[in-house]
Amino acid sequence: MAGFLSFASEFSAATVDTRARALYYRVPHEIRQPVCAAAPWMILSNVPAPVLCAAPCDLADQPGVKGFMFFNTLKEEKTVERTFAIIKPDAFAAGHAGRILTCIYEAGFTVVGMKKIWLSEVQAGGFYHVHRDRPFFADLTAFMSSGPCVALVLEAPGAIARWRERMGATDPGTAAAGTLRREFGTSIGCNALHGSDAPDTAAFEIGYFFSGMELL
Ligand code: CDP
Ligand code: MG
Repeated sequence: MAGFLSFASEFSAATVDTRARALYYRVPHEIRQPVCAAAPWMILSNVPAPVLCAAPCDLADQPGVKGFMFFNTLKEEKTVERTFAIIKPDAFAAGHAGRILTCIYEAGFTVVGMKKIWLSEVQAGGFYHVHRDRPFFADLTAFMSSGPCVALVLEAPGAIARWRERMGATDPGTAAAGTLRREFGTSIGCNALHGSDAPDTAAFEIGYFFSGMELL
């Protein structure tokens, strides 16, 4: 700490703070090697992350200017959030629900809500009301009410984006290899899974299927 403070004394506190923020966001958390072998790692307490290490260095984008490289020693902090998912009627009827649930657990989600449900066409239309003017709406509501499905509330850091990434693109034909829609979907309509696309839609969709007492 003493070494860092003597180095830092070349800067005003405000300068150090500003550099800390700017550099922190530029440095991916995966990089944990000191960039300056001569500089010991230092723990800081006045920077916007729980634990950071810093190494003095030349600023990459400002040659000749001294600065600090800051590294988050923890994994990137993401807010724990909830998302809504459906194992759609095609995947459920094909017997894929068990394998999909296994993938969900392996991806690190906590299942805080789960129920098997057979939607009516009206209920499916209410769920997908944002698409009511789209040409595929009638086919979509007919499909979603064609058999039982499994409704899920999944919790994890960054759950909404993480689940959409795990599902893959809407069209299984263009979804990336290794994604669940690529593996279990058969067409853009019958694409095996649903996932919320934003915090406000997740809140609406969770509330459409679950009461608070069902989220455990
Ligand atoms: O489900 P996702 O958020 O990826 O896609 P969306 O654009 O919100 O569409 C909702 C659902 O409508 C899709 O998952 C498909 O089942 C269906 N859909 C379709 O049948 N044909 C399209 N051209 C687009 C979507
Ligand atoms: Mg959508």
